[in-house]
Amino acid sequence: MARFQHALIIGASSGIGAALARRLAAGGTRVALVARREGKLKELASAIDGEAGEERALAYVHDVHDRDEAPELLQRIARDLGGLDLVIYAAGISHNVAFDEFDTAKDADTIEVNLLGAMAWLNPAAERFGRLGRGTIAGIGSIAGDRGRPGAPAYNTSKAALHTYLEALRNRVGRRGVRVVTLKPGFVETEMVAGMGKLPMMVSADRAAQIMLRKIRRGSVTAYIPARWRVASWIVRSIPSCIFKHLKV
Ligand SMILES: NC(=O)c1ccc[n+]([C@@H]2O[C@H](COP(=O)([O-])OP(=O)(O)OC[C@H]3O[C@@H](n4cnc5c(N)ncnc54)[C@H](OP(=O)(O)O)[C@@H]3O)[C@@H](O)[C@H]2O)c1
Repeated sequence: MARFQHALIIGASSGIGAALARRLAAGGTRVALVARREGKLKELASAIDGEAGEERALAYVHDVHDRDEAPELLQRIARDLGGLDLVIYAAGISHNVAFDEFDTAKDADTIEVNLLGAMAWLNPAAERFGRLGRGTIAGIGSIAGDRGRPGAPAYNTSKAALHTYLEALRNRVGRRGVRVVTLKPGFVETEMVAGMGKLPMMVSADRAAQIMLRKIRRGSVTAYIPARWRVASWIVRSIPSCIFKHLKV
């Protein structure tokens, strides 16, 4: 199982990204935390440092819409940390979209954050790791990307495209010793789903992070979080379109 000394998490200020950072740091990994909310990042970094009794977390304020910044910031983070062997793209948004709403601005924003931001960060990560012949990349997709549902067309599309991009990246740099892991969580208790009530098979962010790190360390190709979503997703994908279009799943 791989152990990581230096990790970068994009989308680390809350939810799954923050839980991943806490768990990695508790195991001795130095972590770089990237997101927009400076207060949240600083709070998390000082909690991590406090628990570790040393500086183990570095915070960087960045908006993933600013794609041109990513390559240089990634190199700066690697220098600041003293190396880099794991990059996780956890940033994501899910706009509320009414059933009869067709809002291109919201859809474009979803693609910008969930897909183009991932490409802007993971391309330079793949380039760096490919050159070095080692390293691990992980991207957080979703079970939502396995089927086009009526409630969230752009979110579903962004995650389906992210899954395909990660597979292609794996097939590009895998042969050079770089691992690329696609993570597909079901429902996780975070700000993203706040107010949606009790959702099926929901797990805490910490539990999701624990499973994700196990899969990342093993170098899994595609992991459902938790694993029972693999069966649920297989069933959902097997439903013919003529039936699926009438369902609210
Ligand atoms: N919760 C679920 O049920 C669920 C299920 C499947 C997949 N996922 C995926 O899991 C990932 C993490 O989401 P979460 O559930 O942990 O929700 P969350 O608590 O809302 O976390 C989202 C993270 O993305 C960051 N982010 C959003 N827009 C950004 C931007 N423009 N620039 C930089 N960072 C940005 C946020 O930081 P700032 O706001 O500080 O920038 C935050 O750190 C997402 O990709 C989500 O799609 C979640």
